[in-house]
Amino acid sequence: MSEPATDHVLLRGLNDAQRRAVLHPGGPLLVFAGAGSGKTRVLTHRIAYLMAERGVPAHRIFAATFTNKAANEMRERTEKLIGRSCRGMWIGTFHACCARMLRESGSSVGLNPRFVVFDDADQMAAIRACLRALQISEERFAPRAVLSAISRAKERLITAEQYAENHHGYFEDVVSRVYAAYQEQLASDGALDFDYLLMRAVAMMKDNPEVRQFYQRRFDHILVDEYQDINYAQFALVELLAAGTRNVCVVGDDDQSIYAFRGARVDLILRFERDYPDATVVKLEQNYRSTQAILDAAHRVVSHNRTRHPKRLWTQTKGGQPIEAREVPNEQEEAVFVANRILTHVSSGGSFSDCAVLY
Ligand SMILES: Nc1ncnc2c1ncn2[C@@H]1O[C@H](COP(=O)(O)OP(=O)(O)OP(=O)(O)O)[C@@H](O)[C@H]1O
Ligand SMILES: [Mg+2]
Repeated sequence: MSEPATDHVLLRGLNDAQRRAVLHPGGPLLVFAGAGSGKTRVLTHRIAYLMAERGVPAHRIFAATFTNKAANEMRERTEKLIGRSCRGMWIGTFHACCARMLRESGSSVGLNPRFVVFDDADQMAAIRACLRALQISEERFAPRAVLSAISRAKERLITAEQYAENHHGYFEDVVSRVYAAYQEQLASDGALDFDYLLMRAVAMMKDNPEVRQFYQRRFDHILVDEYQDINYAQFALVELLAAGTRNVCVVGDDDQSIYAFRGARVDLILRFERDYPDATVVKLEQNYRSTQAILDAAHRVVSHNRTRHPKRLWTQTKGGQPIEAREVPNEQEEAVFVANRILTHVSSGGSFSDCAVLY
């Protein structure tokens, strides 16, 4: 017989809000939370609980996030909980999951499943070759800027043809021509780039009802960590996948969105409740990483943001020094000040590994 739900081993070490999220029976779930409040803990425990108690097989779970580091953390923590490898589960970065979909089903939309994936250096080389072929000077149009513009367009699912029809100004005119040439280059090399992986996967599902239904039926649960970092293409993919069972659980912190420069759209996490009016919302406000002095200071800064979900972190962690702000005249003195602070800490018994320097 299975243990009573509240005493389940996978629920131990969770606070009430975290348990609610892990036990959520199904349907859209938005976990809104601050830094260090256990978002990844909730997501990994939920995956483990779905498998252990609800009998969801690993291969029917799709769990995605954005960076390799976050994806590895999600995978390792899940494996630790389930006590075995996540094999069969779709757990990884959005890019890796899209590559897998395209290798599996891309041939239905005319894609050779043995495509290669261009890394940044390959992309830059291709952009440079296109600029040369179009006789556009690299001095006037930096390849990096052109590549970024193409990348932004792809993140918004704008094809080269659509871009050509609707752009403004001289720079965008150049981008438009390079975009078209670059896509030809990708095609002739049998290659996709990271943004194009997502764009192709979304297009494959949108344009092909059979493929769409296949993936909508294939997964029982869609889970996304760090949802505040989602861009439009990734959002569209989640929306398509989730339209099947509607078991979509996203976990994020609108105060921690740091990827706006590469197309992350924090408004999309705030939109979740609008898109899924029946969504259950769980807020995690207890923080396990910092002292109250740090949380209060952080709150005083982020509470000025106009579009954010109201939440206030608190902690049981007692003690902690008040935050000190220091202004120094120049970089040199800044370095001396920081070094002295660290040395004082270490000579009074502390360790270097207690210190972090952000710049
Ligand atoms: N209920 C809990 N009891 C004790 N410790 C907890 C609890 N929930 C989370 N923690 C601890 O808090 C820390 C942060 O947890 P976790 O990494 O899951 O948070 P997060 O919200 O995903 O953080 P980030 O904002 O960095 O992504 C970890 O050390 C975790 O073990
Ligand atoms: Mg996390």
